Amino acid sequence: MSNTDKRPIGIFDSGVGGLTIVKEVIEVLPKEDIIYFGDTARVPYGSKSKELVYKFSCQIIRFLKEKNVKAIIIACNTVSSNCYEDLKKEFFDIPIIEVLEPGVKSAIKVTKNNKVGVIGTEATIRSGEYERKLKENIKDIQVYSKSCPLFVPLAEEGFLEDKITVDVAEKYLKDLKNYNIDSLILGCTHYPLLKESIKKVMGDKVKIVNPAFETALKMKNYLQQNNLENKNGGSHKFYVSDKNDKFDFICSLVLKENHIAEKVSIENY
Ligand code: DGL
Repeated sequence: MSNTDKRPIGIFDSGVGGLTIVKEVIEVLPKEDIIYFGDTARVPYGSKSKELVYKFSCQIIRFLKEKNVKAIIIACNTVSSNCYEDLKKEFFDIPIIEVLEPGVKSAIKVTKNNKVGVIGTEATIRSGEYERKLKENIKDIQVYSKSCPLFVPLAEEGFLEDKITVDVAEKYLKDLKNYNIDSLILGCTHYPLLKESIKKVMGDKVKIVNPAFETALKMKNYLQQNNLENKNGGSHKFYVSDKNDKFDFICSLVLKENHIAEKVSIENY
């Protein structure tokens, strides 16, 4: 006999990026309640120090725990690549899922020539975690990494397929195009929002790898294995650290649902 656990799943990111994970979680787990936190007051995380990103993440996890979540997804590669182990230790009493391992799993399924590109924030690329995890799985894989810091403000602004975004993508991705990669990991949850612009630059031969689906599956497996599924939920609630209309707009664009995010004074946590 399986129970139903009505507690929500907590999902967080520095801003709108994590909504690309929420989208897949809703697909894969339609009956789960979700509480999302976007740190819109302090985005971007990718240019900040590990210490600061860790401090912000602790505050958000404390907030989510207060909302009685049963598990948390770090829908942010910057936090996942820099702080996951420390966060797991600090918050050992709640299951936390990160996004890198699902990203690596997806890329390994897709690559045929073992030449993989990774794009992410400065902090994610600097951590070298994607490269390390890819090599753990395929010893002779060739990994080409590139940070694309302007992608996050472009996504937060809602410039998803504008000419300026394609121009910026052209500049950042020019070198990657010379390495004969057959797959490109979107190692920042904001980047799927710019997918069309990125595809335009990389061309049809390069498969775009979005870790979101595997991340959602991982959560599903975890809930199933631990008898924590909700069979009757499906509500979605959004919190931000600074209120602006853009969050609600991008939220409706990504999820095809209308929400009004609520502001939280996250520095009090
Ligand atoms: N979306 C986040 C990530 O996946 C953070 C982007 C940022 O705030 O710089 O890395």
